[in-house]
Amino acid sequence: MQVRKAVIPVAGLGTRFLPATKVIPKEMLTVVDRPTIQYIVEEVVASGIKEVVLVTASGKSAIEDHFDYSFELETFLSQKGKLDLLKEVRHISRLIEVVSVRQKEPLGLGHAVKVTEPVIGDEAFVVVLGDDLVESEVPCVFQMLKVFERVKEAVVAVQQVPANEIHRYGIVEGEEVEKGVYRVERLIEKPEPGTVRSNLAVIGRYVLRPEIYGCLDRTLPGVGGEIQLTDALDILRRDRELYAYEFQGRRFDAGDKFGYLQATVNYALDHPELGGIFKRYLMDLVKGLDA
Ligand code: G1P
Repeated sequence: MQVRKAVIPVAGLGTRFLPATKVIPKEMLTVVDRPTIQYIVEEVVASGIKEVVLVTASGKSAIEDHFDYSFELETFLSQKGKLDLLKEVRHISRLIEVVSVRQKEPLGLGHAVKVTEPVIGDEAFVVVLGDDLVESEVPCVFQMLKVFERVKEAVVAVQQVPANEIHRYGIVEGEEVEKGVYRVERLIEKPEPGTVRSNLAVIGRYVLRPEIYGCLDRTLPGVGGEIQLTDALDILRRDRELYAYEFQGRRFDAGDKFGYLQATVNYALDHPELGGIFKRYLMDLVKGLDA
């Protein structure tokens, strides 16, 4: 089952980042020199996927515009001879084909995935959450597609988290069947402390098969009164095998203020032009703090 499409839910209000996100979609906040959504899209493209389904809501049109062709801007840059910038802007508009689907009510991540059924149909697809930036040598989605090719069943990305953070995630209990690959026995969304026997947290990358839609139909509102994708996956694993994959790479929660700062510092240090000068700046700064 070939994977050609990526679903990126972007309908959330970004309340963790107010007031910055009052007018600007949280996905358009910049990490170093590009909006966070562009990192997500570049990961998807580097994994061989060119079709993106954005699940949007009102006030999010800047995201669609960002990946669209801008006649005025490209004409202006070309007339002014600003060819490097023109190349950069063209690169963005040629990255992907975008289809947008509206999530008319904020009923949760599971609901956001459910509204993509008419455009996904009977295919396998990936879901990538915009808050989770993953810096890795091999793109995280690519790593997951490799696992999917072998197991041919849905795969969720996981990483180990400290015990005091377990309540913030979907948690996977399962049996390790090969290094870093687990057969899922149970999924619990944002469990109460002490109620799970695992610290494997679901990170925002999923490879799903179309059977998930039927499971979403059977999913009742869960944590926060929302239709949770985690709960639908817990229904799925009763009928079919489901796998969790501990990916290689560093993940940042860019939807959170501290996580966003960490992402900014790390991506700046790895930036081809800014990395060196930024590192020296940080070292001077740290020396100053010691004094
Ligand atoms: C969502 C999922 C959760 C997952 C998390 C990863 O939660 O519901 O299972 O662990 O993303 O970032 P949210 O962060 O939207 O509350």
